[in-house]
Amino acid sequence: MNRFLQVPILLLLLCLGCQEEKKQAPKDEGMDLNKKWWKESIIYQIYPRSFKDTNGDGVGDLRGIIEKLDYIKSLGVTAVWLNPIYSSPNDDNGYDVSDYRDIMADFGNMEDFDAMLQGMHERNIKLIMDVVVNHSSDEHEWFKQSRSSRDNPYRDYYHWWPAEKGKPNYRYSLFDENGDAWKYDSITDSYYLHYFSVKQPDLNWENPKVRQEVYDIMKFWAEKGVDGFRLDAFQFAAKDTKFPAIDDDLEKNFIQHYAMQDGLHTYLQEMNEEVLSKYDVMSVAEGAGRNFEDAHNLVDADRNELNMAYAFEGVDIAKSDGYELSTLKEVFTKWDREFAKEGWLSIFLANHDQARLVSRYGNDTPEFRAASAKLLNTFILSMRGTPYCYYGDELGMTNIGFETIEEYQDIAAINGYKKVVNQGGDVEAYMKNLKFSSRDNGRTPMQWDTSANANFTSGTPWLPVNENYKEINVASEEMDPNSVLNHFKAMTKLRKNNDVLVYGSYELIAKEHPSIYAYTRTLGNEKVAVLLNFSTDKATMELPEGWNLGEEWINNLQPIKANDNQIELLPYQAVIISLN
Ligand code: NOJ
Repeated sequence: MNRFLQVPILLLLLCLGCQEEKKQAPKDEGMDLNKKWWKESIIYQIYPRSFKDTNGDGVGDLRGIIEKLDYIKSLGVTAVWLNPIYSSPNDDNGYDVSDYRDIMADFGNMEDFDAMLQGMHERNIKLIMDVVVNHSSDEHEWFKQSRSSRDNPYRDYYHWWPAEKGKPNYRYSLFDENGDAWKYDSITDSYYLHYFSVKQPDLNWENPKVRQEVYDIMKFWAEKGVDGFRLDAFQFAAKDTKFPAIDDDLEKNFIQHYAMQDGLHTYLQEMNEEVLSKYDVMSVAEGAGRNFEDAHNLVDADRNELNMAYAFEGVDIAKSDGYELSTLKEVFTKWDREFAKEGWLSIFLANHDQARLVSRYGNDTPEFRAASAKLLNTFILSMRGTPYCYYGDELGMTNIGFETIEEYQDIAAINGYKKVVNQGGDVEAYMKNLKFSSRDNGRTPMQWDTSANANFTSGTPWLPVNENYKEINVASEEMDPNSVLNHFKAMTKLRKNNDVLVYGSYELIAKEHPSIYAYTRTLGNEKVAVLLNFSTDKATMELPEGWNLGEEWINNLQPIKANDNQIELLPYQAVIISLN
């Protein structure tokens, strides 16, 4: 058979087969890799509301996750990060917690949680919990007490500004319909601070009692056996409580002014001493500060703070009118370089705050969706750092693309709309951007099979199921050896079996190439090349001197064409190939 006509299925099987044998090639003899389980983890993020509903109320639940544990295991991931599952009035889908020690009624109860955790541990899957403590819900008992009178013992759990001092200096709120982070509360004639929605008042971390409450909550979950914590918006927790005037465009530059304020590292070191150091748990901060120095200060081992942070720079690249591959290369390369010796990165391009991976960074047209989704999964699972894979991206799920504001459920979309209207802004431009970038795009229900509502629920789903579920779903993709799903499984297997993909150093190749993102990973005497064609056209690349192409470890399309000094990649072709 002409080698360029060989079917990809054979190739996939071949790749999987050869991986069994090559397992753990040269390893780390003589190298101090400072191995840790969380560096080797492949994290699968589940948005519980959208994963699997078992009681017909249209909302995913913990029993649904339990039902799908074998599926999760089959993906080859080693840990699950769950978005918040605590009691919440759901102003921001669980990121407004009203009881940190209880389970949201929509999701089930503590018995369900215990069964879920046990089921995960039986399958060697770790569980990472979201900890939302920059703010609570305004329906949390602490806030109810706090707002009731100025001398209530809980008053200082939050940030209050007495009205007789005049209006406090402006602070920007991400989710407020006027963008104002101060809300006047007539009960005590004072304003309270909310960086997010009015129902998410910011906790006062200067108050040692607040900090102790949080550590106790974290211990409660650690004692139950959870394996890690993701600290939501924590880089904003410390504040200058004098709230001086800020003479800047706060909306544009809020990270510069809100992130990593004095006190934050003290709080984290205290949290580490009180909780993190006492359990075998991993920790990751949402947000990596304002610069590399901030990021290092969060995660370098000698600081005794956290294990990882995730930086937004990579995920912020894609815009509704596209993005430059050169920027993607530059951003990921510089972060890798800065963390090559010390610290550890999180690798991700999607989560519940983003639209779908393939719609933003790939190409979701029928012609290229599958190939580009596989390419993106190849990228995320072959970089140095801990990969975070968002549910549905293993299938290549796409944006739903709502047209009208009434279709949206997300507070960020709805209040953002109100803000544009209130400020007389360009509503049409706002809606166009939202259709591409809204968080609801990434939150549509998981597509399990071809039956009604993709078998996510027997009721009415809280957010519509994407119409393409008849084609893009777990059952169909499980049966198709050439699916995005089976490619994802092959990639997780490859990563788990090859330390070079976890610990190997990264080097960018052919930096100026307009459509190929190429890099090598090297560990000891093992070296592989990752070649990714991010375009809808074929692309060729000169082989760097000294490259001897060896075995293809994985390939999303046909075997690559290569001669002595050039290779050719098909549109969205993604290959990992060993170098001899
Ligand atoms: C970051 C979370 O990822 C996001 O979903 C949430 O809306 C905000 N923090 C507020 O908690």
